[in-house]
Amino acid sequence: MKIAVILGTRPEIIKMSPIIRELEGNQADYFILHTGQHYSYELDKVFFQQLELPEAKYNLEVGSGSHAEQTARILTGVEEVLLRESAEMVLVEGDTNSVLAGSLAAVKLNLRVGHVEAGLRSYDRQMPEEINRLLTDHCSDYLFAPTDKARATLLGEGISEEKIWVTGNTIVDATYQNLEIARESENGLSALGVNPKEYFLATIHRQENVDNLVRFTSILKGLDAVAVEFCLPVIYPVHPHSKKRMNEFGIKPRNLILVDPVDFLGFLKLESQARLILTDSGGVQEEACILGVPCVTLRDNTERPETIEVGSNILAGTSSSRILECLEIMLNRQNNWANPFGDGKAAERIVAIIMGGEHG
Ligand code: UD1
Ligand code: UDP
Repeated sequence: MKIAVILGTRPEIIKMSPIIRELEGNQADYFILHTGQHYSYELDKVFFQQLELPEAKYNLEVGSGSHAEQTARILTGVEEVLLRESAEMVLVEGDTNSVLAGSLAAVKLNLRVGHVEAGLRSYDRQMPEEINRLLTDHCSDYLFAPTDKARATLLGEGISEEKIWVTGNTIVDATYQNLEIARESENGLSALGVNPKEYFLATIHRQENVDNLVRFTSILKGLDAVAVEFCLPVIYPVHPHSKKRMNEFGIKPRNLILVDPVDFLGFLKLESQARLILTDSGGVQEEACILGVPCVTLRDNTERPETIEVGSNILAGTSSSRILECLEIMLNRQNNWANPFGDGKAAERIVAIIMGGEHG
């Protein structure tokens, strides 16, 4: 079966990397189709290089644009490649525009669609990602749910049991495969002038936060208050989307250490040594939980409720006083929770299911 692995953004490259390795190891008939949604070196190439991934056979170079523009460009580009390659199946991961357009192009050609990280829901349809993951799940043939909860959600939406496998999340595979190398690597703390467990790490890039002046300003005010109140540095690797908005809004955070986006090993090291992480990222909520680092989520909801249940995470929203309050709660928690996202063998399971032709 000829498989197209479709990816387009930073988290997809990272979370697909264990699957790509597994496909390589099994000498599967596959190729990588990069949509080009992310194109800046620090959001794209750096991960291919560091994770030693084969180069994408195709790059659609769709770049940035409105949701409709970007989705449409991916849709037509993917269709053309799938036809040219006579692909029989596509694999997509997560909830970006690349995922929605990739799966939609494939299903309309009557190809099999495998959705890695299926069944996540924030129940907030204002988020572009919620629409993307819902629609992708409902046009997929193979739904690889990371947890039992995700499986139950899919069943609750009427998706048939035979299409769903609980595999764990490939972010555990990627974390386990790279953590030791990350810990031993040079890059990291000393260059930033910080000591292990004596700094906070922050990331903010969600559209509903950074495109909204009031919410973005309030979050940054909260982070500023955290740095001052706890006398500890807050390191914030700034996503280009957020940088663009900061410039447009004329926001200049005073007490934060702003850095460029970090490569995966460098970021894993920063996460694992942080006293606490503040984020609106999906993947970072998971990694904090896996690494045993407390997390404060700068959102009103999460599609990763498992992290709240095990006690690794708390929802702070965007009010600066609530951010401070949640940080104090999390600093007083025991961080001995169990990782709910699997044993690091998700990719092995996913590839075995696909290659074994296991399908209801
Ligand atoms: C996208 C995903 C989001 C995911 C995130 C991962 C959608 C709707 N959003 O958000 O779910 O969490 O990727 O990081 O699919 N830009 C660059 N260089 C790049 C890419 C983007 O400078 O390589 C800037 C551009 O100004 C662009 C903006 O970031 O307009 C937004 O990019 P876009 O791909 O639309 O969304 P992300 O915010 O990256
Ligand atoms: N990440 C990274 N460098 C950074 C910030 C994040 O390598 O400076 C990684 C992080 O380890 C995680 C992934 O990017 O695996 C999360 O991606 P992002 O936050 O962009 O998207 P989301 O998960 O919210 O869709």
